[in-house]
Amino acid sequence: MVPPMKAIQIVELTGPETALRSSELPEPEPSHMLTPGSGVVVDVAAAGVSFPEVLQTRGEYQFKPPLPFVPGAEVAGVVRSAPPGADVVAGDRVAAFCALGGFAEVAVAPDFLTFALPDSLDFAQGAGLILNYHTAYFALRRRGRLQAGETALIHGAAGGVGTACLQVAKGLGANTVAIVSSDAKEAVARQAGADEVLRSDGPWREQAKEVTGGGVDVVLDPVGGDRFTDSLRSLREGGRVVVVGFTAGAIPEVKVNRLLLGNTEIVGAGWGAHALSRPESNRQTGEALAGLIEQGFISPIVGARYPLEQAGEALRMIDERRALGKVVLELD
Ligand SMILES: NC(=O)c1ccc[n+]([C@@H]2O[C@H](COP(=O)([O-])OP(=O)(O)OC[C@H]3O[C@@H](n4cnc5c(N)ncnc54)[C@H](OP(=O)(O)O)[C@@H]3O)[C@@H](O)[C@H]2O)c1
Repeated sequence: MVPPMKAIQIVELTGPETALRSSELPEPEPSHMLTPGSGVVVDVAAAGVSFPEVLQTRGEYQFKPPLPFVPGAEVAGVVRSAPPGADVVAGDRVAAFCALGGFAEVAVAPDFLTFALPDSLDFAQGAGLILNYHTAYFALRRRGRLQAGETALIHGAAGGVGTACLQVAKGLGANTVAIVSSDAKEAVARQAGADEVLRSDGPWREQAKEVTGGGVDVVLDPVGGDRFTDSLRSLREGGRVVVVGFTAGAIPEVKVNRLLLGNTEIVGAGWGAHALSRPESNRQTGEALAGLIEQGFISPIVGARYPLEQAGEALRMIDERRALGKVVLELD
């Protein structure tokens, strides 16, 4: 008989305070929904907590599994078993994107979304590596076409995606301007490599134009809401706004004449839609990020660590805009 494992399930769609339940469940089979019949089984040491899991507790995320289900998009831990041909083997330290099932002692990930975890990073950092850093690289490099010597302005810069984008942008040789809402978040953005830090409730658009001598090349926006038009206005000619998320709640609408006036672009960046069906693209991004880790540009900032049983508290921290860097659940 398969032994039970500890896991956290979403049992109702009532928000982070009440939607979760601690459960004992059978350990998963070595099969992942993206690679049916095959999967890397990981003994989980740390599970990443992200904005989408907050949305999942309310049924507001685009991916809506039937209840009850174990949330948790990414983990770090030690490989228990791997399919033939995988880049990792039993005993390897890894970071793995499992999409679901990460808030548990054992999780399963596709082989093409499982990456060796360098010794320089601990498990908690590994649990913040895939979703945020693959998104950052995809959004800045591939969608935003950020080049060395250009300037990237990052909204929500002290959050999980924001800190990853600051580090990746510096690794790509760009200058960085961070937008944050508090002193504590300013300190985190500076730790992540921001060259300039501006306040979201101040005249950041004018200040960004001033500190860059005319405008930024790329705006990376995980926040949305009413700052979007100012993001477009902060671009220099030929600049790009990359749409990544909507933590402010509202989905912006723009008058497209603004694009014509400044020869600017708005570009969408949906990492999941791109990556989950493209093994080779993930390997290339994984290699690029491994290089940036080795060169010292990437080191995920973990702002809070909770035991698995306190997953609800971890989700509330994100929901209440209190998160600094990555929020992580640690297992025994
Ligand atoms: N497109 C993709 O492929 C992709 C991939 C991963 C994540 N995402 C999305 O990216 C977004 C950011 O995720 P994350 O993990 O970085 O979240 P996070 O760590 O909670 O950071 C989000 C930041 O948004 C800012 N914010 C502004 N208004 C807010 C509000 N009303 N409530 C909460 N935060 C607010 C906060 O910064 P200030 O307080 O400094 O303003 C906060 O630090 C989410 O929408 C997520 O779904 C998209």
